[in-house]
Amino acid sequence: MLNIEAMDFAVTKDLLAKDLLARLTGIVGESGVMADADPASRYRRDWSGDGSGLPLAVVRPRSSGEVARVAALCSERGVKLVPQGGHTGLVSGALPSAAGDELVLSLERLNRIVSIDEDNFSMVVEAGCVLETVRAAAAERGFVFPLALGSQGSCQIGGAVATNAGGLNVLRYGMMRDLVLGLEMVLPDGRVWDGQKALRKDNTGYDLKQLVLGSEGTLGIVTAVTLKLFPAPTQVETAFLALDSADAVVKLYGQARRDLCDLLSAFELLTDGGVVHSGLPNPLGSPAPCYVLLEISASGLVDARALLETFLESALERGLVRDGAMAATSAHAASFWQIREMIIERQRREGRHLRTDISVPISAIARFIAQAESAIEALSPDAIVLAYGHIGDGNLHFNVVPPAGLSEAGKIDLLHRCEERIFAVLDGLGGSISAEHGIGRLKRHAFLDRISPVHRDLLGAIKQVFDPAGILNPGRILEHRAP
Ligand code: FAD
Ligand code: LAC
Ligand code: ZN
Repeated sequence: MLNIEAMDFAVTKDLLAKDLLARLTGIVGESGVMADADPASRYRRDWSGDGSGLPLAVVRPRSSGEVARVAALCSERGVKLVPQGGHTGLVSGALPSAAGDELVLSLERLNRIVSIDEDNFSMVVEAGCVLETVRAAAAERGFVFPLALGSQGSCQIGGAVATNAGGLNVLRYGMMRDLVLGLEMVLPDGRVWDGQKALRKDNTGYDLKQLVLGSEGTLGIVTAVTLKLFPAPTQVETAFLALDSADAVVKLYGQARRDLCDLLSAFELLTDGGVVHSGLPNPLGSPAPCYVLLEISASGLVDARALLETFLESALERGLVRDGAMAATSAHAASFWQIREMIIERQRREGRHLRTDISVPISAIARFIAQAESAIEALSPDAIVLAYGHIGDGNLHFNVVPPAGLSEAGKIDLLHRCEERIFAVLDGLGGSISAEHGIGRLKRHAFLDRISPVHRDLLGAIKQVFDPAGILNPGRILEHRAP
């Protein structure tokens, strides 16, 4: 028997969708709307490849004015909206729902470098600019924009603002939160907030841009950003060091902070498992439990090479470091960094694995690693633990590759239990379940379980002020509540 009610609903839905597409096309033109994103399309996936969504349609505006008109239309119709940058986020925030009820708003055509103000050490860019392009534009004028991530060839400035991205140089320059002077944002109802100031000091009331930084597209759509620039370093020195333990790594970090005159720009931990997993040759003669990738950078009259040599000689003499190599050329340094990047890439090729992004006080890093390793060992002795990360930020990616031969369902179950154990260790150490990747959809439950009712109330009230209709990135960070 035919279900007339269901048919009517389907027909009405279809007509509504067609009308919506026509209105969207009226705003952004034919080339700016895709009604069906094919299954392999990047708009349906993210870098992890773990999930796949079904966009209602994909809309690609060219200006903040067009973004505002799209948002106003969605608000009028109650259509849910998902802003998308470079699809490199690691918590499924930009992945549209599988229900086909979220419109993807890609920022990829808002990609102009607007201006560079040399005297103010700042630049204005549109949100869809790829980070690598921004860094290159700054470098051309003798500056550095210091946000540096493995994903910088694809991720966008708007995505980096939305996730408050961190990366390799945070210990020297801070996270995205510290690198933004101003921004422009479209609210879900289509109003535009122009917070594009280029001031280093501005204590005029609540700092709205800081609320938006790290809000993961749940409060507004970032359309343009004013970024801080720094003088480009003229000397960069890199060393690859072998150490006996995570404890020794933390001690070496403390010494480096004291001895290297604030020039330390990266201090990354790798473990032997990670270096082997990278598939690249170990730059040192023999394996060691831990390695550090250390970088200092300077401009001006400092002799960075002499400084690092003296530091390393002293660290070797005092037994803090077992062995080490200083890069002779920039290509040599790049080969060290290649090992760091390949750990992540190879991990992805293994298929489903657990990615974590935890932080603890720097003084608790060695304890965290020891406790988390034994927790995983007890749960699954054959699982491979790959720990690496940003020691200066107390931030580790303590990842787990499941044993070969497990079914997909078996992997999902095991990795879930591994995550629970790791998070329990973190709770005992006063740590965070997300240091730099955010909450998105993947960590929402774990996050909400860990915050107080007061904390939840405040977050809910903030969301209500920016997005009372609940159409922007619903279900990311907070549970979706229909208005
Ligand atoms: P997307 O993945 O497209 O989106 C991420 C979130 O932001 C989503 O919720 C989306 O809705 C929202 N969003 C995107 N654009 C906008 C906008 N214009 N306005 C409002 N909301 C928006 N992160 C680190 O912090 N440190 C690292 O070292 C690091 N390394 C990485 C290395 C690799 C290989 C990969 C794949 C990722 C890495 N990341 C790292 C993850 C990091 O979050 C992203 O690379 C980057 O910040 C996301 O930018 P994106 O443009 O790809 O955003
Ligand atoms: C990194 C990412 C995964 O540090 O945050 O490589
Ligand atoms: Zn990281």
